[in-house]
Amino acid sequence: MAIILEPTKSNFCLAAKHLQLGNLVAFPTETIYGLGADATNEEAIAKIYRSKGRPSKNPLIVHYQSILAAKEDAILNDHAILLAEKLLPGPLTLILPKRNNCRIGDVATSGLKTIAIRVPESIIALELLKEFGGPIVAPSANPSGRISPSSAIHVANMMGDKIDYIIDGGRCKFGIESTILDLSGQKPRILRQGSITQQQLEIILNQEVEDVTNFSDEQPIAPGMMYRHYAPKCDIRIGCANPQPNEALIAFGEDIPAGFKYVINLSVSANLQEAAANLFDTLFELESKNISSIATMIIPDVGLGKAINDRLSRAAQKHKTN
Ligand code: TXA
Ligand code: MG
Repeated sequence: MAIILEPTKSNFCLAAKHLQLGNLVAFPTETIYGLGADATNEEAIAKIYRSKGRPSKNPLIVHYQSILAAKEDAILNDHAILLAEKLLPGPLTLILPKRNNCRIGDVATSGLKTIAIRVPESIIALELLKEFGGPIVAPSANPSGRISPSSAIHVANMMGDKIDYIIDGGRCKFGIESTILDLSGQKPRILRQGSITQQQLEIILNQEVEDVTNFSDEQPIAPGMMYRHYAPKCDIRIGCANPQPNEALIAFGEDIPAGFKYVINLSVSANLQEAAANLFDTLFELESKNISSIATMIIPDVGLGKAINDRLSRAAQKHKTN
């Protein structure tokens, strides 16, 4: 069973040594908990794919302690430099062309010519990166397809038998993954809605940013977006008309329909940031109850609401498409 570590100097040291030996360490970021490995060690990376049951076609995000460090592996263009100045460290992942001498092997990038780079703002993630002294690949610390972890206990429950250490940083500030922005083509495109909104990106770049996250598309561009995701163990349906017997409700705002066995409100004050931060925790809590399904109230599809709705629709998909 994994040991849960307090985020102390000596534990960062222990965790960094464990990574250097080619092992996995789960750690918090400001978005969700990641499952970390040495980004330059192909065997360690293979352990990530094995322990998550992740398809090899689904590449990983490489985490750096600074944008300067990321420049060793990725070619930064003007858009990347501008966004890095304004938003990094922070919950934004950039897809950029790989350098010829990129240190990150094909196992992590699934043989693509591009690389996903991220500089987290979480002090704990940054301390670990500094102590380790190199890039760390980190997918969400959940088995492929399951709910993403926003607390150390979620990681322990899902992955505790597969990893040795989990650094506990409490609940993650944003609670929903980073936004993925593809800057490798002609126009900037959002591949995954996340903690940074489309509007924030458009204001900084002073141009339209295309959203290509629609998961009904036959060929989504972020390979990971093809699969059913964020799935609780019970059924989930979007909408809250006609409560089913033994059904729970994910509510939003003050005006809540009656007739559900359990209700968890993502945000009574209809605050999207609060709702995003509560989302995965709520899914974990409801799946642990003895219910047959979860209904969800409609969340406004603006700003962070887009990321929340994206997660809920994927969780509601009945079948894996991979
Ligand atoms: O907030 C986050 O981004 C978290 C924390 C731990 O940093 N990480 C995370 O990783 O969400 P993961 O592996 O669960 O999601 C990574 C996504 C996948 O959908 C993958 O397909 C996409 O990033 N991705 C990685 N490299 C890519 C690339 N070169 N081109 C397009 N998509 C890429
Ligand atoms: Mg994930």
